[in-house]
Amino acid sequence: MMIVSSLDELRAARRLLDGTVGLVPTMGYLHEGHLSLVRLAREECDRVVVSIFVNPTQFGANEDLSKYPRDLERDLKLIDPLGVDLVWNPTPEIMYPPGYQTWVEVKTLTHPLEGAMRPEHFKGVTTVVAKLFNAIQPHKAYFGQKDAQQAAVIRRMVRDLNFPIEMVVCPTVREADGLAMSSRNKYLEGDDRRAATVLFRALSAAKSAHEGGERDAEKLRATMKGVLAAEPKATPQYVSCADYDTLEELEMVQGKSLLSMAVLIGRTRLIDNFVLE
Ligand code: PAF
Repeated sequence: MMIVSSLDELRAARRLLDGTVGLVPTMGYLHEGHLSLVRLAREECDRVVVSIFVNPTQFGANEDLSKYPRDLERDLKLIDPLGVDLVWNPTPEIMYPPGYQTWVEVKTLTHPLEGAMRPEHFKGVTTVVAKLFNAIQPHKAYFGQKDAQQAAVIRRMVRDLNFPIEMVVCPTVREADGLAMSSRNKYLEGDDRRAATVLFRALSAAKSAHEGGERDAEKLRATMKGVLAAEPKATPQYVSCADYDTLEELEMVQGKSLLSMAVLIGRTRLIDNFVLE
């Protein structure tokens, strides 16, 4: 496994990779969700590249950039046995050289849900992912369904900017009690960890209602809100039942749809979603 930081090293290492290249972009502090992306990339591509970069531009001014968990040594130990060919761990100065002023921005799709809560977030995500795509030139790129809006926004960017890259979105990996895996779960201690399962329980209740024939989106949103309201540690930021592609809130669920939510558990902000087919 080659581990590089500078752009020159990356370009030299990339030239050595023949065949199809799969990229798994990450911000490190890897968990089983990331590893499932790496395993699928390993199965589907000749070569696998993992990027590890805590991207400062996708964090808001009052978000947890300085506290975001980092442990490169641990990350490398986790991915080494999976057959990763190349790891790129650039510094912020490499990604954003002094005087930086170029941004990639997807418009309408970034306005609701996470975008409404975190106004600059997706501009940071699309900019860094476009830079990763330019530098690594992968054939396929792997993302998790847990960040459903991120996947939709990057898919739009790939189409709009004609990146010759296939996007692969992999199912959310969950703990035994349903909690979606996330690097931020590290912040959940004691009773907050138990309370955090409320997102899964709320989504499951709405999914059961849908399976039982409920198509009124407002009733599905009310079902999720009802479960969240019964958990004193949960403060919902949004609860949504939206069209899967446009992310616009629905009145009636007809085609593929997305149930999603962001909830504060104590001071930890969690997101989760289910897709209704
Ligand atoms: O999902 C993430 O970990 C990040 O948003 C990504 C895609 C690596 C960009 O920094």
